[in-house]
Amino acid sequence: MYNIRERALAPQGNQKIEWVKEHMPVLNEVRKEVEREKPFKNQVVSLCLHLEAKTAYMAEVFQSAGAEVYVSGSNPLSTDDEVCAALVEKGIHVYSWYGIDTKDHYKNLRQLLDAGPTVVIDDGADLTSLLHTEKKEVTVRGACEETTTGVTRARALQRQEILRFPVIAVNDAYCKYLFDNRYGTGQSALEGIMRATNLIIAGKKVVVAGYGWVGKGLALRARGMGANVVVTEVDPVKALEAHMEGFKVMPMEEAAEIGDIFVTCTGNIDVIRKEHFKSMKSGAILCNAGHFDVEINMKSLKEMTNPRRIRKNVDEYQINGKKLFVLGEGRLVNLACADGHPAEIMDLSFALQVLCAHYLVKHELNPHVLPVPPQIDMKVAELALKALTLKIDTLTDRQKEYVNSWVYGT
Ligand code: NAI
Repeated sequence: MYNIRERALAPQGNQKIEWVKEHMPVLNEVRKEVEREKPFKNQVVSLCLHLEAKTAYMAEVFQSAGAEVYVSGSNPLSTDDEVCAALVEKGIHVYSWYGIDTKDHYKNLRQLLDAGPTVVIDDGADLTSLLHTEKKEVTVRGACEETTTGVTRARALQRQEILRFPVIAVNDAYCKYLFDNRYGTGQSALEGIMRATNLIIAGKKVVVAGYGWVGKGLALRARGMGANVVVTEVDPVKALEAHMEGFKVMPMEEAAEIGDIFVTCTGNIDVIRKEHFKSMKSGAILCNAGHFDVEINMKSLKEMTNPRRIRKNVDEYQINGKKLFVLGEGRLVNLACADGHPAEIMDLSFALQVLCAHYLVKHELNPHVLPVPPQIDMKVAELALKALTLKIDTLTDRQKEYVNSWVYGT
């Protein structure tokens, strides 16, 4: 079963999937393992993630591990219709299309849950939250959560003591946030900005709101391209870290007056709002790299003026004679305006997802937000090093003894 834009787009989708598959060696190794074992035999696995080629390949891996796979996108502007069509050809149940509205998105998510999944793979906890509201009758063994915002939402359920099933915080694995959030978003968000605008980064004042893992990557890569980076933060430690890294630190109120490009990556709401729009320079470019489209207060911007689409993924807002440009409607700029993270990055994240889902079906776990088992994190790192033909040292017996001893010089 499926509900997609157009089945005839499958050949183009297949080409995209083939390309990423070539560049996902870790997931390919994991695939060999689960293909042999078929841990998801006779089980449904439902995935709600940015539905582009890398995700499609992960869906294929779940299928090869014996699962009946149901997939939906997690953001209206990141679903690739070609990829959806290719997945349908492969026998995967796809419910998604580019530009979907909220009502249809939730209708599709319900289909994914009505299929009776054992495991859900979530990006932003949309399936998880539905399983705590409308779909309480559906029992799952557990969920794997892809992103910071989804883990935050799952932890909120846990704090209220209503979390119904274990949620593995895949986002919090070293092999996830150190690479995906940091280097993945660092590169792909800039790529989204460049593709949408076709403007130069060098010499621009780039304001990065939030110096977490995403913010660190973005600030680093923007500086690498010659931007003057300004960081805004609410956490004193992170602000100090940004300062020591050599970035300018100031409140958004001040940054709003000088920034050329603004990127929000806080996981928070209303980070750029009415008073900031008012003080921005004409020509300022605004975009978001955080999970939800609430970081830039689009509602108040639209109340100030009507937007005009002036270029693919670029809306112009004229306020008192000056122009502000919003990219990708304030949704994740790297996915709305580009193809998301590089394949080599999603290779690590999705290898973790498959291994964690495997762990969920193999173990009886408590209904808590759980860390990724360290052996899974290490396995992914080792496979990645192997694929890169990088070798590292191993501890000698004397070193092992030394690092476990409290006596100096033993
Ligand atoms: P994080 O928790 O490491 O960092 C968020 C930072 O924002 C924190 O340092 C926090 O103090 C700061 N912050 C919160 N409110 C703020 C405010 N009003 N002004 C300035 N700073 C503020 O989270 P991480 O991993 O960096 O993720 C950030 C967001 O990006 C999340 O929504 C996450 O889901 C999303 N994400 C997006 C990706 C993408 O592909 N675009 C990839 C990975 C994560």
